[in-house]
Amino acid sequence: MKVIKKKSLFTKLMATYVVIIIIAYSVSAVILSVWFYNYYYNQRKDALLREEANLNRIVGDYMTQKTDPEKFKFELLVIDRLLDARVLVVDNFGYVISYSGQGLDKMIGKQITSEEFDEIREGRIVVKKGNFKNMFSSPMLTVGMPVVIHDQVQGAVFLHSPLDEIKNAVKQAYIVVWVSAALAILFSIFVIYIFSDRILIRPLENINTTAKSIAKGEFDKRVQVNSDDEIGDLATSFNYMADSLKNLENMRKNFIANISHELRSPLTSINGFIMGMIDGTIPQEKWTYYLNIVHDEIQRLTRLINDLLDLSRLESGEFSLQIDKFDINELIRERVIKFEDKINKKNINMDVILIEDKVMVIGDRDRIDQVITNLLDNAIKFVPEMGHVYIKAEIKNDRVFVSVFNDGDPIPKDEIKYIWDRFHKVDKARCKGGGTGLGLSIARQIINQHNQTIWVESGDFGTKFTFTLSLA
Ligand SMILES: Nc1ncnc2c1ncn2[C@@H]1O[C@H](COP(=O)(O)OP(=O)(O)O)[C@@H](O)[C@H]1O
Ligand SMILES: [Mg+2]
Repeated sequence: MKVIKKKSLFTKLMATYVVIIIIAYSVSAVILSVWFYNYYYNQRKDALLREEANLNRIVGDYMTQKTDPEKFKFELLVIDRLLDARVLVVDNFGYVISYSGQGLDKMIGKQITSEEFDEIREGRIVVKKGNFKNMFSSPMLTVGMPVVIHDQVQGAVFLHSPLDEIKNAVKQAYIVVWVSAALAILFSIFVIYIFSDRILIRPLENINTTAKSIAKGEFDKRVQVNSDDEIGDLATSFNYMADSLKNLENMRKNFIANISHELRSPLTSINGFIMGMIDGTIPQEKWTYYLNIVHDEIQRLTRLINDLLDLSRLESGEFSLQIDKFDINELIRERVIKFEDKINKKNINMDVILIEDKVMVIGDRDRIDQVITNLLDNAIKFVPEMGHVYIKAEIKNDRVFVSVFNDGDPIPKDEIKYIWDRFHKVDKARCKGGGTGLGLSIARQIINQHNQTIWVESGDFGTKFTFTLSLA
């Protein structure tokens, strides 16, 4: 599995590089060979053309009988060897009078007729590529030039240089290009292997292995990647995700522990009281008293289960809000009255600060009621005896800001971002038997569904939760 992964990424990179290298080298090979060919061709042509005066003199001497045929033939042979070009001499009518090679002596006396020959007779030099009317088996560079004696064209000389030699030179250049391409490919395979392994493949494998460990439940595993590139960023994000998962996992474990405790203690007491009634330990005249306790416990259980159901429904978006206009001040007053008992029990100094008599807002009254209840419940729960709590509604622009404040110990700074999480309780010991850590999650879900905001400020002055609502 590991090896296949490694190979596939490496092969993909490699294929890309090889294709790039081959394209680059092919283009340069084509350009080079065209350039080479033209260069050699021009060199050759110039070398042949440079012999014009010399040939004119030699042939002229022969035609005016100043040289004998033997010497003439020898001179032509020397030029043939020096220039690597066959020499063909014709008279003014195109009849071959001499040739530098032996094998073609049978050409002597044959007539050459072509438009090129006509051009030469007019005194011009002709350059041509080809096999000269099938006289040669391979292509030749042919230069034809007039022989001028006393300002008159008396014949012509043809120099035929084989083009295959140029092709051979270009072939050599090709070999150099392709050998260096092969070397470049080998070298880049090596370099790419080293780099991709160190920069990509190993770090990715590392992340992959860690991901698998976490999937198996090892939430403490983290990726060790210290590069400052995208892979490094990926590793950091990955670790961040692992942190969240671990936190979620811890919350889940804590929640199960909490919920078991929350469910067990009321069930134990309910069970105890009912057993007492059945077996007669509790006399009949005290039944009403104990049944009231049982009733309270059942209500607590129902509340807890309702909270859980609410939250799961809110989170899955199943709740549709019953948006309406209502008086937020009236709602606040009602809520504070319901908490009167608890407020009196703790001797809390309670203020209700409402600027106007009636402030109409838009929202789901029952859900907002739930938010205020949760916030007030927290404030009263966490404020010290004889402490100060206030609830305030004020209008800013087109919104209403509702704040619930209590003094007392602030929420620790590093805990603040977690208090909105499900089941999160800052101090497990302090609220033993109290909440389940669901209140704030529910409040935030509800406010978010209203497209409003809720936030907390906590410090030495105390703790203040604020949420917003739209004015009607
Ligand atoms: N007014 C407050 N003062 C101090 N801490 C608070 C206050 N409100 C909430 N908290 C902290 O946030 C946690 C989460 O609150 P909440 O979701 O309502 O759960 P619960 O009330 O069930 O503990 C509380 O356990 C508490 O630690
Ligand atoms: Mg609460």
